[in-house]
Amino acid sequence: MWDTLFINAEVATMRDDEGVPYGLISDAAVAVENGEIAWVGPVVDIAENIADLAREIHDVEGDLLTPGLIDCHTHLVYAGERSGEFEARLLGESYESIARDGGGIRATVEATRAASAEDLFDAAVTRLDDLLSEGVTTVEVKSGYGLDSDTEMKMLHVARALEDERYVRVRTTFLGAHALPPEFDDADAYIDHVCNDMLPAAHAAGLVDSVDGFCETIGFSPAQIEKVLLKAKDLGLPVRLHAEQLSDQGGAKLAAQLGALSVDHLEYLKPEDAAVLAEAGTVATLLPGAFYYLRETKLPPVQALRDAGVDIAVATDCNPGSSPMTSILLAMNMAATLFQLTAEEALAGATRNAAKALGLDDTGEIRIGNRADLCIWDARRPSELVASIGQNPLLVRVFGGDICP
Ligand code: NIG
Ligand code: FE
Repeated sequence: MWDTLFINAEVATMRDDEGVPYGLISDAAVAVENGEIAWVGPVVDIAENIADLAREIHDVEGDLLTPGLIDCHTHLVYAGERSGEFEARLLGESYESIARDGGGIRATVEATRAASAEDLFDAAVTRLDDLLSEGVTTVEVKSGYGLDSDTEMKMLHVARALEDERYVRVRTTFLGAHALPPEFDDADAYIDHVCNDMLPAAHAAGLVDSVDGFCETIGFSPAQIEKVLLKAKDLGLPVRLHAEQLSDQGGAKLAAQLGALSVDHLEYLKPEDAAVLAEAGTVATLLPGAFYYLRETKLPPVQALRDAGVDIAVATDCNPGSSPMTSILLAMNMAATLFQLTAEEALAGATRNAAKALGLDDTGEIRIGNRADLCIWDARRPSELVASIGQNPLLVRVFGGDICP
């Protein structure tokens, strides 16, 4: 007997192996046992006495059921706010000039170093709750606003603690190579410190699921980033990279050649580099919130990514400077309206492909054996999740088989 059975659902499995848009199954049932998906298919395919099949039966009455959403790129843990920089940019200052003048990431580093773990947690959980209210069941959270061992670890501890307080799976990313901290004036010396001290310490504490960096004129050079990613690989950790956000540094290609799980932003990616990502199986994670908020005009080469067969993910990039956004549904809408992803690509970007970006093969699709991370929506078609702005049709969130309160 199954634990739970959802019946009469419009199920967007998000499987792409049968050529059906959204992997859609109408008048479908999904069975859950021991926190996993035990069965999915048309209701007519299950035996007549449905009442005998599961301890709990939920009639979804034709509503949409999808995999739980996955936000695969966030900086959820930070202190302070940077609305002053927002105002300065509206008056013509650039994101880069603010960073060069010691603002930007460094401003958040100052606030984050000064904040207690409790205050960081409280701020992060408020933002997390916004994501959960829209159906997120897995979230990636980066460090990168500490830039010293203690504060990077404080951030990662706080990120991991979110799992204890909420029904959510957290994947942590070490982002020590985010910016040059104020106490260093030599970027190479800082990168050595990241590779020899900070990253090994965070890894030894068991706090790191993957390693990221910021490859940019206001971040680190490809050669510096390569050192960090190679060190991560030495430690057996998967890598990802903020690349080609503000200029083309060749970071995405470098990271893909090192087997990166994902490369993220990509507005300035050369279309011909898409083939390198495809070859490596590296996911292209698009962050339309940052594109929008920085009033960027250069579009990522979506058609080239598509043509090359690169899997595309979509995430909020929730952070105080370039994308203070806590709505995964809005990120999906923006990916469609600003980057011309199809509605199906946008939803795949926050489910199947986001799971791949995190190296997770047990979520992001409704298939037997996957975790029962599910959402039920007050919607009839999956495109409704992408088409609206500021509406939240979430009815029920299921996390590992548990119906979340
Ligand atoms: O993903 N690009 C670098 N890092 C973040 C923004 C950091 C910040 O401005 O605080 C991003 O956009
Ligand atoms: Fe980011």
